[in-house]
Amino acid sequence: MPAAHSSPVETIRTIAWMKEASRQARGEGRIVGLVPTMGALHEGHLSLVRRAQRECAPVVVSIFVNPAQFGPKEDLAKYPRTLESDTEKLAALGADCVFAPEPAEIYPAGFRTWVSVEGLSERLEGRSRPGHFRGVTTVVLKLLQIVQPHFAYFGRKDAQQARLIQQMARDLNLDTEIVLCPIVREADGLAMSSRNAYLKPEERRAAAVLHRALQAARKEMAAGTRDALQLQAVMRRVLDAEPLATADYAEIVDAETFEPVTRVGRACYALLAVFLGGTRLLDNMRIEPAAEEPGELRFDL
Ligand code: PAF
Repeated sequence: MPAAHSSPVETIRTIAWMKEASRQARGEGRIVGLVPTMGALHEGHLSLVRRAQRECAPVVVSIFVNPAQFGPKEDLAKYPRTLESDTEKLAALGADCVFAPEPAEIYPAGFRTWVSVEGLSERLEGRSRPGHFRGVTTVVLKLLQIVQPHFAYFGRKDAQQARLIQQMARDLNLDTEIVLCPIVREADGLAMSSRNAYLKPEERRAAAVLHRALQAARKEMAAGTRDALQLQAVMRRVLDAEPLATADYAEIVDAETFEPVTRVGRACYALLAVFLGGTRLLDNMRIEPAAEEPGELRFDL
């Protein structure tokens, strides 16, 4: 792999070549970083790349629309595939390498081994999208095996995915450190996501309701409410007031187990999954006890 901050970015298509490039970099004592993505890169992804560049060189960005994490009725066929413009964005940042394999390279005929994180993967997103997390953890483990990074970077917008990947890394004694990075938002608070591109203009305007619902819950907690059902009702009320939005779930869950909590006290998440037309969007707010002020909370929104 070329030295950091060289241009143009190198594109690798095969597992054998990627493994060899990584082996060489590690052999030279370099710190390899991986940013796994499905492409259609936006500022959220680019913030992960910048963070990786502060800590690693070379930085590999994988671009792979993973068929295994899409359900039969989901948007695999229409998911945006924009390798050329993605590569340009990465070259402008000075990323070192794009790993962009074909599906048959990752899942050759006869592929049979799947990785699942039990329990954690069956709630919330797992319940709404059966099989989704099995596809995510399997491809992430494969990418970690292929790229052998010291550090791998994931966004906190997909909070349950991030938690599952951390659990998998711990359970399987992986040598990669999983680094979770903040959500990047548009000016109106909408969390950046490749799926935002599906929204019609009126849906895009309405999509700011997710952030408003989280803000309403935060305000309620700042005023002293700790009862999870009350907080969920506050988020639901905000979502229900937006005619174009249909909530799939609005829940407060423990940050480790993703099981529902009755009271907000220890670290937890307020999690939203909301349909705007045919597009399903996720958002969340992390809630933690404020270390410096007992009884007070800290919000990561
Ligand atoms: O978050 C994503 O973009 C995907 O789920 C990931 C982690 C790249 C696996 O395909």
